[in-house]
Amino acid sequence: MAVVGVMYNLKGEPPDDGEPPDSGAELDSESTVLAVAEALRAYGHEVCLIEGNDTAYLKLLSGHLDIVFNMCEGLRGESRESHIPAILEMLGIPYTGSGVLTLAITLDKPLTKKILAYHGIPTAKFKVFTSESEIDTQGLEFPLFVKPAHEGSSMGISPSSLCRDPLELYREVRRVAHLYKQPVLVEEYLPGREFTVGILGNKNPEIFPVMEINFSAVPRDHGSIYSRQFKVEWYEDRYYLCPAPISAEMEEMLKDIALRTYRVLDCRDLARIDLRLDKNGVPNVMEVNPLPGMAPGFSDYPRIAEKGGWTYTELVNGILECALRRYGLSHLSSSAFVKKQIA
Ligand SMILES: Nc1ncnc2c1ncn2[C@@H]1O[C@H](COP(=O)(O)OP(=O)(O)OP(=O)(O)O)[C@@H](O)[C@H]1O
Ligand SMILES: [Mg+2]
Repeated sequence: MAVVGVMYNLKGEPPDDGEPPDSGAELDSESTVLAVAEALRAYGHEVCLIEGNDTAYLKLLSGHLDIVFNMCEGLRGESRESHIPAILEMLGIPYTGSGVLTLAITLDKPLTKKILAYHGIPTAKFKVFTSESEIDTQGLEFPLFVKPAHEGSSMGISPSSLCRDPLELYREVRRVAHLYKQPVLVEEYLPGREFTVGILGNKNPEIFPVMEINFSAVPRDHGSIYSRQFKVEWYEDRYYLCPAPISAEMEEMLKDIALRTYRVLDCRDLARIDLRLDKNGVPNVMEVNPLPGMAPGFSDYPRIAEKGGWTYTELVNGILECALRRYGLSHLSSSAFVKKQIA
């Protein structure tokens, strides 16, 4: 059994004036943190809850943790997801999930796309602008899709993200640049079906059943966008199709692209990869989530893991187990862990 520090950043106060209405959307609620802690305790581990804030370093320094279960999305800055892992690395404390570099890169969607393109993994053509005055669409084909370069949880994404002409594009780039105060990613719109693929493991990872986002279940005027509104309001099972109703070839292609993405970005233990079909029916990677949401009964990753036969408790312990094995700490494994097939 291990002494496990569960580290997290909690959703805080409502946004101040001038902050985006969805700021803090990617942070965890207390119930998710408690669910993770309870799952670890159920397998016999000792759990310490540590908020990943400015004083976390002092708590880590004085603690005696065997490993950290990292859920920290970070508090501020363009590399915020890598801050706590960097401190853990400095202090020599093992942690679950991807490393500092992977967490920093994947929070930067344009940089992630450059790496994917280098490796021949399909991703929509794009440009980045820091303000509306820089817009230059040469080489890109409308419709275009606009999003903040360094956010997750569909922050800043709504039906207005889809821009059919230069005026819509100008307005949306201006809105995102001013509200989110960061570069704006403009990419070609992928008009096809949308899927997400969950992965668990390292040497020979398990790939959970592919899940399709069921846009036919939402109001027609919302369009086919997995927006902030969709994620918050439409979480019941009927909005999701898992396993996705797709051919064996398509399933193979989605899983293959997702796994190649996991490898080239050096993801560890777990990740969720979001894909959409382009106008030719080819799956394109939209983005990579090395810290997928873990809200039980709500977040995509535990939802698809469950379809793959993993209860929430098994999944949380599976993630820990992957990390323990990776660090050569299997003597700290729980004897309750029976899903030995993960490697
Ligand atoms: N190029 C695109 N073409 C069509 N739709 C897109 C495109 N990029 C993003 N979307 C839509 O916007 C949604 C959110 O985009 P994306 O996955 O990049 O954001 P995110 O906020 O990082 O998501 P997550 O909550 O998974 O972290 C996608 O799930 C998809 O529905
Ligand atoms: Mg996404």
